[in-house]
Amino acid sequence: MISFPQTSSCESSIERLRASLGSRVTLVGHHYQQEAIVRHCDFRGDSLELARRVPHIDSPHIVFCGVYFMGESAALLAREGQQVHLPELSADCVMARMAPATLLDRVLARLTASGRKLIPLAYVNTSLDVKGVVGRYGGAVCTSANAEQMLRWALDQGDGVLFLPDRNLARNTAAVMGIPEKDIYQLDIRQRGENIDVSAADHASLVLWPGLCSIHARFSAAQIEAVRKADPSCRVIVHPECAPEVVKASDAAGSTSYIIKYVESAPEGSHICIGTEINLVQRLQQQYAGRLRVEPLRASACSHMARVTPEKLLATLTGIENGTARPVTVNPAVREPAKTAIERMLEACAPSR
Ligand code: 13P
Ligand code: SF4
Repeated sequence: MISFPQTSSCESSIERLRASLGSRVTLVGHHYQQEAIVRHCDFRGDSLELARRVPHIDSPHIVFCGVYFMGESAALLAREGQQVHLPELSADCVMARMAPATLLDRVLARLTASGRKLIPLAYVNTSLDVKGVVGRYGGAVCTSANAEQMLRWALDQGDGVLFLPDRNLARNTAAVMGIPEKDIYQLDIRQRGENIDVSAADHASLVLWPGLCSIHARFSAAQIEAVRKADPSCRVIVHPECAPEVVKASDAAGSTSYIIKYVESAPEGSHICIGTEINLVQRLQQQYAGRLRVEPLRASACSHMARVTPEKLLATLTGIENGTARPVTVNPAVREPAKTAIERMLEACAPSR
């Protein structure tokens, strides 16, 4: 069993500063953040939970412990005059970088030149510039928690969907929905989009961008086979960013919040192997120690999430206290279309629906 490090003097300083800032600051953190960070957060959640929560936060400063695209989306959803701070601006998402906005714009222009109404559906793991392009083309954002619902929504809006950047989330969602392979086409975006076969894409109702998450790409069906061989009673659950053959070999697949609920409701004594970012797995392991046997399918860490450290969080809080902190800014040119793309998701997936 793992044990978490004791609170350091840096962390005591974080708590002192938080106390002195009081209701002027709210700390939110993604589940993939290390324990030394999430223990200071007022709220933790997955991408969807955090996106939903931001508009309801009252404090003038929000510190977002996560990667850049999450802070950007939070800045967009924040109220006027409210500032969103990221402890580490270089904490990005490898997958988000695989879909640059200018390339997406060019690709969409080519795929819709004939008048085809191809609706872009962007995973939340994309830059705000990309969300802006998506909003302009009538599309929306989705997260791993609502990908199926949003793909149905997008298919209803036009005569096809371009899902980006995660080809694995797209294929896994398509499999759940029973979309046949013949209706799916994966783009070749090399040569700045010049390689795209527009007529092949025209025949597909689901067009895929070829991105993926390198952290979730480390899980394999062979690892699952080895785990089952060692203990046939073991249940395996993975994130839908894993490859389709990994999802097929598992007992269940779902978003971060789904994984948490799966573990929460498992019968006492269960052995559960999880294929997702290691910080979440270790936290669940610790939380259910003595009741469940929770293990990582393999240790796979997101190095960008790890760039947020207690030292950087302390520096951010110090900057807020003395007025030198630099909040995340939103490019005014993409504000409206990007906000529309996010709001389409929040509306289509409003909890009361
Ligand atoms: P969630 O949407 O499950 O929070 O996942 C975000 C992410 O970056 C997964 O790698
Ligand atoms: Fe991006 Fe993968 Fe890290 Fe999630 S785990 S933030 S998808 S690189």
